[in-house]
Amino acid sequence: MAVFAVGITGGSGTPYALRLLNALTSAGHDVHAVISPAGEKVMQLESGLKLGRSLREKEAALVRALESEGEGKGSVRLFDPMNLAAPISSGSFPCAGMAIVPCSTGTLGRIANGISSNLIERAADVMLKERRRLVVVPRETPLSEIHLRNMLTLRQAGADILPAMPAFYHRPRTISDMVDMIVGRILDRLGVENALFYRWGKDTAASDVEMED
Ligand SMILES: Cc1cc2nc3c(=O)[nH]c(=O)nc-3n(C[C@H](O)[C@H](O)[C@H](O)COP(=O)(O)O)c2cc1C
Repeated sequence: MAVFAVGITGGSGTPYALRLLNALTSAGHDVHAVISPAGEKVMQLESGLKLGRSLREKEAALVRALESEGEGKGSVRLFDPMNLAAPISSGSFPCAGMAIVPCSTGTLGRIANGISSNLIERAADVMLKERRRLVVVPRETPLSEIHLRNMLTLRQAGADILPAMPAFYHRPRTISDMVDMIVGRILDRLGVENALFYRWGKDTAASDVEMED
């Protein structure tokens, strides 16, 4: 099983991040997670999850919140965002890919401009230089010209830009349905098999839709 890096920054979208950690570990993968200080605040606001003071307390609280399933459950290790000596800071560490979920426009801009000021930005920079998968999940609206330019720069450098934009054609009934669609698409980009969301043309109801009169 592989090791993936997950960065959680101060954009809105905690449910996506928690579900991604849950899905990766349930599939037996190990995760090196990093949460920015703003990400921690937004997480507390959106999910009520107060992580605690020390890194180990935070890690334990995060793991408890995941309730991962499956026998071959993977682990989550939490790293301090200022720990630039962490394994994912180096291209020599065999990290299979990274997702930044949610990705604030600030973090996105810094990565697009090569400013590795913390472990999330440095690990993303490493993914790009090593030509490994980097999935960036921004959540902002409307988008300024600066945001759009930074996204184009990152796309051209090899990242996948996967905005947290749930669709409705699968008729989601719960917020979890909408979250799972985005998380399933992230897992697809990371090369992790999943059945989290409805696939057009594969799941029966989709192919039944008649578009002509
Ligand atoms: C409740 C709350 C929600 C936020 N939502 C977003 C958001 O959806 N997208 C975004 O780019 N920034 C959002 N921000 C602003 C970022 O948290 C802020 O720019 C922060 O400096 C990002 O730092 P980071 O990239 O190190 O996590 C939000 C802030 C708060 C307090």
